[in-house]
Amino acid sequence: MFAERPLEGKVALVTGASGGLGAHFARVLAAAGAEVVLAARRVELVEAGAAEITAHGGLAHARALDVADVAQIGPLFEEVAAAVGPVGILINNAGVGGEGRALDLTPQAWDQAFDVNVRGVFFCAQAAARQMIAADMAAHGGGRIVNIASIAAHTVLPGLSAYNASKAAVGMLTKALAREWARHHIAVNALCPGYVETDINRDWFETEGGQKQVRGFPRRRLMEATDLDAALLMLAGPAASAITGTLVTVDDGQSLP
Ligand SMILES: NC(=O)c1ccc[n+]([C@@H]2O[C@H](COP(=O)([O-])OP(=O)(O)OC[C@H]3O[C@@H](n4cnc5c(N)ncnc54)[C@H](OP(=O)(O)O)[C@@H]3O)[C@@H](O)[C@H]2O)c1
Repeated sequence: MFAERPLEGKVALVTGASGGLGAHFARVLAAAGAEVVLAARRVELVEAGAAEITAHGGLAHARALDVADVAQIGPLFEEVAAAVGPVGILINNAGVGGEGRALDLTPQAWDQAFDVNVRGVFFCAQAAARQMIAADMAAHGGGRIVNIASIAAHTVLPGLSAYNASKAAVGMLTKALAREWARHHIAVNALCPGYVETDINRDWFETEGGQKQVRGFPRRRLMEATDLDAALLMLAGPAASAITGTLVTVDDGQSLP
């Protein structure tokens, strides 16, 4: 009933794909048949990730991209369209933690959180949507934009006010863009993961405070990246033809009080 490789023939661009969830998402999309473009600042890591996918029989490319530098975004999407094909799936994954308690937070830390987590997400979505419309993707199943938000979009993560605010902004941006681009058949949704151990939080979970936080989760554990696969594929694939403007939380119950 379901296609084994539902994303066959689609070009998927994943930002922040040099490690953590982004590298994992790229592997999942490639296994589902997409031709994947892994983009991040650490180009040697996206090259290694693309090579690994290719070695396993997938289609993958690597590109350098700093999403905080808006001047890079349009040219990158145009180059990808010319070299690989128009982007039909954008996974807006690049993100930073925006750490710092509110009383100590510097303007630089605030700006970094918003430049990457919000401004970068918006301008990548804009570039992708322009390409999806120009390529008339509405006639071919529509485009897909999946913004990787967080449970921080709707739940206070103590000590992370800038991160909380940036992810809440991603949540509302998701709905606003979904409304604006609905008639172009671009589905814009957000995936809100709970905690998965990656570089963004590894140091914290090695502390006593981090261990205590895990013991406070209903299932007393962190999630695995693979726990996100089904939701990612739903939002990136044909199943999302009538799902747009939605925030999908996959958090193992971590945000339940
Ligand atoms: N892990 C979790 O528990 C969790 C939970 C909820 C949501 N999330 C979200 O999931 C996303 C991925 O996080 P992660 O856990 O995989 O963290 P990570 O391992 O620290 O990865 C973050 C990725 O973002 C990229 N990045 C950072 N700044 C960038 C920039 N200016 N331009 C382009 N890429 C940039 C990094 O690549 P370069 O440094 O090479 O550029 C890296 O690949 C983030 O949006 C995060 O907020 C994570």
